[in-house]
Amino acid sequence: MKGKDFLSIKDFSPSEILYLLILARQVKTHPTTYRDSLKRETLAMIFEKPSLRTRVTFDVGIQQLGGFSIYLSPAEINLGKRESVYDVAKNLERMVQGIMIRTFAHEIVEQMAQYASIPVINGLTDYSHPCQAMADYLTMWEAKGSLEKLKVAFVGDGNNVAHSLMFAGAQLGAHVWVATPPGYEPKAEALQWACRRARETGGSCTVTNDAVEAVADADVVYADVWASMGCESEAEKRSKIFRPFQVNAELFSKAKPDSIFLHCLPAHRGDEVTNDVIDSPRSLVFQQAENRLHAQKAILLELMRGEFVRLPSLVELQETLHV
Ligand code: CP
Ligand code: NVA
Repeated sequence: MKGKDFLSIKDFSPSEILYLLILARQVKTHPTTYRDSLKRETLAMIFEKPSLRTRVTFDVGIQQLGGFSIYLSPAEINLGKRESVYDVAKNLERMVQGIMIRTFAHEIVEQMAQYASIPVINGLTDYSHPCQAMADYLTMWEAKGSLEKLKVAFVGDGNNVAHSLMFAGAQLGAHVWVATPPGYEPKAEALQWACRRARETGGSCTVTNDAVEAVADADVVYADVWASMGCESEAEKRSKIFRPFQVNAELFSKAKPDSIFLHCLPAHRGDEVTNDVIDSPRSLVFQQAENRLHAQKAILLELMRGEFVRLPSLVELQETLHV
């Protein structure tokens, strides 16, 4: 995958996604093996929205691989206003070895990747959050021992996190359900892509307006904020519309007794999730947040170094996943 960009889970094959998860587990178990793998390599981190996890895990991750990061705040870059995406890409490709970017329109990361000769990583757009999905499925794999056939229920807004959860679930053979209020469903194109890919991997993707139907017998229940970054002005309106989609003890009780709760964080406690769920022993939200570090180290290694020469076959990877 050397030189590739990481813009969307859709751009990879099922075996590449599985392979990145295997590498993430390897990196998590044996961090010192990789401590010089990206020695003196530099990652530019462009943020047009706030962040805790993405900023810290990319910064710490590249340092743990021997490299450095440079944080570029919205005020510094002022992408597209102070300077065009093209000019930023053409500057950075001569100065650093990789770019991580968090922005609004997904087209911005696509343009950056098109213009820059170095790998570009999507650190969240309005459309998707692929690094989050890698950490999410790494956490599910650790907790459940396998990913195939898991019922994963996302409850809330059909947003960037929902899209990436659907894409990765389809790649990995999971049964992903997304329950939203009417009018807040995932994009039709995203659902079509996930359904098509899921048919090839034995999974499925279903959208419903019934939270109980989605959560019934689920292995994983997933929540995210009701108003994403950039939609803050709708927060009050949404808070009424989304109330029936709150993951509380009653809704969580419809899932399997050994189901787990996930949330990409930040959480708005008392809105999309209640304290008794997010603080329960079956909530793995902080393990999930930590896994951003390991999943992204695997992505950085692959894109910036191309750690492994031969990509294992899907059968080999599936066998590995089930041991
Ligand atoms: N989950 C996530 O991306 O967190 P941040 O917005 O804090 O980076
Ligand atoms: N859907 C949320 C995710 C935050 C990590 C947002 O875009 O704000």
